[in-house]
Amino acid sequence: MPRKKLIAANWKMFKTPAEAKAFVDAFLPLVAGHTRDEVALFPSPVLLPTVIAAAKGSIVAVGAQNIHFAEEGAYTGETSVGQLIAIGGTHTLIGHSERRQYFAETDEIVNKKLHTALKHNIIPIVCVGEVLAERESGKTESVIKTQITGALAGITAEAAAPIVIAYEPVWAIGTGKTATPQIAVDAHKIIRAEVARLLGAAVAANIRILYGGSVKPDNATSLLGEEEIDGALVGGASLKPESFAAIAKY
Ligand code: 13P
Repeated sequence: MPRKKLIAANWKMFKTPAEAKAFVDAFLPLVAGHTRDEVALFPSPVLLPTVIAAAKGSIVAVGAQNIHFAEEGAYTGETSVGQLIAIGGTHTLIGHSERRQYFAETDEIVNKKLHTALKHNIIPIVCVGEVLAERESGKTESVIKTQITGALAGITAEAAAPIVIAYEPVWAIGTGKTATPQIAVDAHKIIRAEVARLLGAAVAANIRILYGGSVKPDNATSLLGEEEIDGALVGGASLKPESFAAIAKY
């Protein structure tokens, strides 16, 4: 069975509730009846209730950009998986490079969050990717393998089915410098092989690996046309309904 592609919008720290509602109201008609792919929005926590209500009954899923690994507790400023579930969220990003860079998220923290998400049936999108200096010094493969091994520690093949991985080379995020389809495919193959080594061939064959980093309407077709690329995690170009719909319908 071919893997169903997932086109995901990471809105980062953008939009007010009114702007988020306006986006969903404009976006839904543009993707009505589009069942070929899965589509998901990842707004800031404060926007989640608005976006979940506006997207209710549509093909569009809604998730968080981050969760805490603890079920609850004294963690000021954080969101628990139970809070996400209570308002109807179904997905979460984990270990986005901006979380790793600005909020000191390590592979160990990513791993704990992944265990928490799976335990509560939240679909996790685990983000990995090298920075420019690592690519230029030939370390891409070892960096990705370390991130995947760290993220998947203690995860069993039985539990792994919902996991989605996003390959987001940090040098391509917000820079307008997109990885070529070949660069992305090569990295995805490294990731898939590492998943096979850790969790077996069946899990690796089914796991979805998204590409993220300056995905735009004009490069979406060449990237998503690749069998190895199972979807996109889109930042800047996901903020406008027309451009995100164009990517989703590449
Ligand atoms: P851009 O699409 O703005 O490069 O962001 C990519 C990203 O970080 C998605 O998570």
